[in-house]
Order: sequence, then structure tokens, then C-alpha cells
Amino acid sequence: MSVGNTVYVRVNGPLIIKGDVVVQDVDGTVLLEENEAYLCRCGLSNNKPFCDGEHKRCAFTDPAMFKDEKGETLVIDESQKLVISVRPHAMLIVKGPMTIQNEDASSITTRNKAALCCCGLSKNKPFCDVSHKAN
Ligand code: FES
Repeated sequence: MSVGNTVYVRVNGPLIIKGDVVVQDVDGTVLLEENEAYLCRCGLSNNKPFCDGEHKRCAFTDPAMFKDEKGETLVIDESQKLVISVRPHAMLIVKGPMTIQNEDASSITTRNKAALCCCGLSKNKPFCDVSHKAN
């Protein structure tokens, strides 16, 4: 089943999130409510959680190829909002029905909840593997 919310994992670049997107801080303060958001995953943006293009200057590399052993059948609720809670210096907690894929869909999964890396250090990108704790 497809849903409107899609997290695109860009090669060597940010997460591009399309759908009914809400980005909020840990206190629930809404930072952005839009149909599209560009979120940093290299960890070096000067405007976190948003991408500011710093990934190009720091030569962030990630092929955006992944496997997801925790893929889920989507649970479609009424709102279908995708709520992204930003945990500074940690991860993005994403709640809501979503497809996560790279740009050509050679890597693709569906989730109702995901912890995504925003520090650039995970060895299981785009997912968080708690490598941020090593810093
Ligand atoms: S991914 Fe663009 S600044 Fe980090």
C-alpha cells in the first residue's frame, strides 16, 4: 500500500521528506509544517535540523543504499501526518505511515515509526544505530 508520506534518502545529501510533514523540537514546538522538508543527515548543518548545503562543503558521502529488517505493514490513521521530533545531537524520531526509499527506489521500506540518523555517523544509514553516543 502506498502512502503520501515519503522519506527520500539522497545520495551524499539530506533526507527529503514529502507529504503531510510536521517538524518539531523535543518540547513539541512546531518548527515547520509543510508538504516538504529537507533535513540534515550529515550532522554539519549550521541550521539543524534543516539542510543548509554544508554536506557539499564537507564532502559527506553515503550511497543511500540500505536494507531494513524492521519494515512494517503501514497503519493508516485519519490524519496520516508524519511527525518528526528532533533530538538534538541524537536522532530524528519519525512517527506516522511512511515509505522510506532512495531516489531510484532500489532501496525501499515502509514504517510507522523510525529513528533516523542526523549526525552522519550511523553505520546503518538512514537509520540511527546510536553512533552519536560515541561523540
Ligand atoms: S545533509 Fe545537508 S547540511 Fe547536512
